Amino acid sequence: MIAIASDHGGFALKQEIIAHLKSKNVAFKDFGCYSPDAVDYPDYAKAVTNAVLSGEYTQGILICGTGIGISIAANKVPGIRCALCHDVFSAEATRLHNDANILALGGRIIGPSHAIMVVDTFLSTPFSNDERHINRISKIEN
Ligand code: RB5
Repeated sequence: MIAIASDHGGFALKQEIIAHLKSKNVAFKDFGCYSPDAVDYPDYAKAVTNAVLSGEYTQGILICGTGIGISIAANKVPGIRCALCHDVFSAEATRLHNDANILALGGRIIGPSHAIMVVDTFLSTPFSNDERHINRISKIEN
């Protein structure tokens, strides 16, 4: 189950990604926002980080205008590894190497077709489980 949220800057891209997830029968919950009206991105980062840490959601997707503010906010939360990716290589690498549990995107940076390829790569790539990566991640968490 995927937890997804955006601020107003990411709202339009989120609608495209939600339509894609529906078309692929990927289970998700939309934690807002629910209109293009201006909101504060840290509130939506908090909703998705809580959802992922609860264990009920395997991964999260967060979108703001650039992806920067919302990823900064998410990465303040212990246990969250939020990766801002605007290319497929980074999306694959952050799953393999960092076991990132949230993908951040910038709705004013990337178009929907490319973003959907990034999302699909992020959601379908498993963590490598390589010892060197486990060791490095543990140095982040502790
Ligand atoms: C909102 O205007 C914008 O600042 C926000 O979406 C995001 O880009 C912040 O990093």
